[in-house]
Amino acid sequence: MNYLDFAIGMAMNSGEIAMKCFRKNAIVSIKKEGDYESIVTETDKEIEKFITSEIKKTYPNHKTLGEEYGGAKEKENFLWVIDPIDGTENFVKGIDYFSVSIALQKDGKSLVGVVYNPATKELFHAKKGAGAYLNSQPIHVSKTTSLKDAVVSFDSITTDEHKKKLVLDIQKTFPKIRSIRVMRSASLDCCYIACGRYDGHIATCIKPWDIAAAGLIIEEAGGTITDRAGNSGYPYIKHFVASNKKLHKELLTIIK
Ligand code: IPD
Ligand code: CA
Ligand code: CA
Repeated sequence: MNYLDFAIGMAMNSGEIAMKCFRKNAIVSIKKEGDYESIVTETDKEIEKFITSEIKKTYPNHKTLGEEYGGAKEKENFLWVIDPIDGTENFVKGIDYFSVSIALQKDGKSLVGVVYNPATKELFHAKKGAGAYLNSQPIHVSKTTSLKDAVVSFDSITTDEHKKKLVLDIQKTFPKIRSIRVMRSASLDCCYIACGRYDGHIATCIKPWDIAAAGLIIEEAGGTITDRAGNSGYPYIKHFVASNKKLHKELLTIIK
C-alpha cells in the first residue's frame, strides 16, 4: 500500500472513532502548558494511540510525533506527524469544524498530508508534486487578487497575551478586507484556503502537528504558508500566515 492510501485509511478509521462521541459523550479534561489551559478528550488520546500503533505495525522503522503523546524530534528520516483531533474545542462544543490530521515527513519535509473532517465527510489530501484533492476532486486556491474581496480567517490560543494579539491582527486587517472568520481549527482553515473558500489565514502561534499535513495541501493547491516574517519552513514555524499566494505579501505587511 502506498503512504497516501495508508494515511487515508487511518484518518477514516480515526474519524469513526471520533464520531462515536461527537455530540454525545466526549470525556473532557484540561491540559496545562504554562498559563495555557487547553481542552483534551479521551477521544483525542484514543485516536492518537490507534494511529501510532498502526504505524508501528506497518512501518516499524518510522518514527511518530503526536500532540498528546509526543514522540520523536523533528526532521527524522521518516516521521509521521499526528494531530488526532485538530479543533478539539469545536469537537467538544458539537461544532462540525474539526479534523484528524496526519502527515508523513521525510527529513523534515511533508511528503503526504491528510486532513479529514468526519462530521462533514470532507477528506483533504495531497502528495508532494501530485496536487491537492478534496475527496476525489482536484482543488485549487482562489483567484482573489484584491484584498477588498478577501475572506480571511484568524486564530490564536486563548491566553490573555494571544487574545490581545488576535484582536490587534483583526483590527489591522478587517478594514481592508471583505470579511473574517475565527473557527479554531488551523488544519481546516488551511484546507479551506486550499479549496478556495478562504483567501488567507493569520495565526499568532502554531505547533507542527497543526500544519504538517495542511501545509502540504495548501502548497499543492497553489497557495503558500510562511511565518509572520515571511520565512518558509512549515511545520516548524512558531506562528503563521497562509494564503492563495496572490495576497500573501499584502497580508504580511498589514500585520507587521
Ligand atoms: C488548536 C487549533 C487552533 C489553534 C491552536 C491549536 P487543538 O488545536 O488548531 O485552531 O489556534 O493553536 O492548538 O488543540 O484543537 O488540536
Ligand atoms: Ca491542533
Ligand atoms: Ca489536537
